[in-house]
Amino acid sequence: MEFNEKVVLITGASSGIGAATAIYLSKLSAKLALVGRKETNLRRIALYCEKAKGVKPLAITADVTDDGDAERIIRETVEHFGKLDVLVNNAGVIGMGGIKNSNMETYDKVMTTNMRSVYHLTMLAVPHLTESKGCIVNISSIASTKPSTMALAYNISKAAVDHFTKCVALELAADGIRVNSVNPGFVKSNLLRDIGLSDDQLELFVKNVVGNMPLKKPVEGDEVAALIAFLASDKAKSITGSHYVIDGGSLLR
Ligand SMILES: NC(=O)c1ccc[n+]([C@@H]2O[C@H](COP(=O)([O-])OP(=O)(O)OC[C@H]3O[C@@H](n4cnc5c(N)ncnc54)[C@H](OP(=O)(O)O)[C@@H]3O)[C@@H](O)[C@H]2O)c1
Repeated sequence: MEFNEKVVLITGASSGIGAATAIYLSKLSAKLALVGRKETNLRRIALYCEKAKGVKPLAITADVTDDGDAERIIRETVEHFGKLDVLVNNAGVIGMGGIKNSNMETYDKVMTTNMRSVYHLTMLAVPHLTESKGCIVNISSIASTKPSTMALAYNISKAAVDHFTKCVALELAADGIRVNSVNPGFVKSNLLRDIGLSDDQLELFVKNVVGNMPLKKPVEGDEVAALIAFLASDKAKSITGSHYVIDGGSLLR
């Protein structure tokens, strides 16, 4: 896969799947714009990427839910590199609880981060992607189609991302822009760190989740990165409006 001269913007690149994707694409010589809120983490990943092929990423410390920051993310990327070829909408948060034990604060935070920011960044990126005949990869989840009682707001935010992916793929096909999603199952990352479990509870939770996966192992971040890279590459030039599941067989149950 060739990413020489391709400008790739990745949100949530300071941790987990986004960081793994940045590192993966840096080895393919992509020009990277990396977004996250935690500046130290973001700069660490950017330095790691630079060491791969000597291409210095643009690190943008920003909150994707802030409208001004969203505009700055797109503006700084295009000012710095002169164009945008690929948008990876990866930044996301989880909030726990079902309809009986969650609250509107959780709903607003999860929907604003996981869906509204994707809508806004995509809207802002479209003029530039039209020029480059570029593409978008949205990071959804198997939670978009698998009902559960644990994280209602998260599940419906990802269902929205899936439908957004299809609608926008249809709308933008005439402009030569492809739009797809990657829907992972459980991947070890910092996503579950904020949900208030102790380390022991978290370990037990992870053990149960992995135990229920038919392949009995978590998906690795760089496996997800490879799928994102494939969908963003010219090898996927006929693929648009699709959801690519990578879940160790979790949806089989
Ligand atoms: N891990 C899984 O099992 C799994 C499964 C399916 C789907 N996913 C999806 O994969 C994506 C990445 O999650 P992950 O597992 O890699 O989690 P993670 O390690 O917690 O990483 C989340 C990333 O999103 C960024 N982020 C969150 N809110 C943000 C905001 N308002 N503005 C800017 N950046 C923000 C974080 O940046 P800072 O830390 O710098 O704030 C971090 O870089 C999410 O969309 C998630 O829903 C994960």
